[in-house]
Amino acid sequence: MIVLGIETSCDETAAAVVTGDRRVLADEVLSQLDEHRPFGGIVPEIAARSHLEHLDRMVARAMEAADFGFGDLDGVAATGGPGLIGGLLVGVMTAKAIAAVADLPFLAVNHLEGHALTVRLTDGVTFPYLLLLVSGGHCQLLVVEGVGAYRRLGTTVDDALGEAYDKTAKMLGLGFPGGPEVERAAEDGDPSRFPLPRPLKGRAGCHFSFSGLKTAVRHAVDALPPGPLRKKDVADMCASFQAAAGDVLVDRCANALEAFRARHPSADTLVVAGGVAANRNLRRRLADLAGEHGMRLVAPPARLCTDNAVMIAWAGVERLGLGLTDGLDFAPRPRWPLDPDAPPATGAGVKA
Ligand code: KG4
Ligand code: ZN
Repeated sequence: MIVLGIETSCDETAAAVVTGDRRVLADEVLSQLDEHRPFGGIVPEIAARSHLEHLDRMVARAMEAADFGFGDLDGVAATGGPGLIGGLLVGVMTAKAIAAVADLPFLAVNHLEGHALTVRLTDGVTFPYLLLLVSGGHCQLLVVEGVGAYRRLGTTVDDALGEAYDKTAKMLGLGFPGGPEVERAAEDGDPSRFPLPRPLKGRAGCHFSFSGLKTAVRHAVDALPPGPLRKKDVADMCASFQAAAGDVLVDRCANALEAFRARHPSADTLVVAGGVAANRNLRRRLADLAGEHGMRLVAPPARLCTDNAVMIAWAGVERLGLGLTDGLDFAPRPRWPLDPDAPPATGAGVKA
């Protein structure tokens, strides 16, 4: 089975070809970061235009790298949501056009499902597993029981962790995206210098909150001596922020692990995925936590943590194998929860 995958939900224009026996034949990713950097964040209109300009070439490159024609494929998958509507439209329309011309099944993939299933491609992980999905737009704990079978244990009531990393970086004058910059700066910092809050730590349940942490960073930065920030202050702030974020993740995941093991006593795998999962410090702490519970941590390689089309092609492979194809009338979904039955998160900062 051979599937072409297309990803255009945010700021990466990506195309990949993946096989049913877990081989990646092509993995093309074009980051738009240089186009968005002057604005310090993703500009949806620029993203949509850039996807339109570059996607055809990325698809051609992926097909060339795989050394296939469209007729050799068994299906075409595109991210159908959640994400920025302009980009989703470009990817979905392109995939549908290829599917229509080459008479192939079309698969609309949930971007979060792409992140969730990546470890089945990279490590052959079997169901069920507990998933911590941490990215720029999402922060969730999910029990993954099968393709399309997700039970959400917790989500953020305000900001995603990647967003908190990005905002912390911005306040400290570091580059965008902030995650890798903060991680790098934190390596030389003192994590105990700034006493930052650990929102929701010690409380029951598996929800997250990061906006109070972000605000505390702002107050701590404002309290520094006026003038340009010193390298040492930046390093200590990054280390303090990362220590607080890690404490929160570990605390929330410990509760989730218990809920997961109550439901699946013999399951042994905690998975971390999404852009923030590229962070080595957080991975180490999660691996320690899993070990304490007699479990193991599995994380995809960093390249497959941040957005890519390999995960979309692979989710397409999994869905095609189950006959879960979509009609050409599929409409992109800017909002598309993995577990539509999950009770809504409640709290002061809940986003609609
Ligand atoms: O999954 P992703 O590429 O896009 C979304 O679906 O959101 O995640 C991007 C997010 C950004 O917020 C970025 O700062 C964060 O992942 N990120 C990191 C690291 N690498 C990327 N956060 C912490 N440490 C990292 N090394
Ligand atoms: Zn993502």
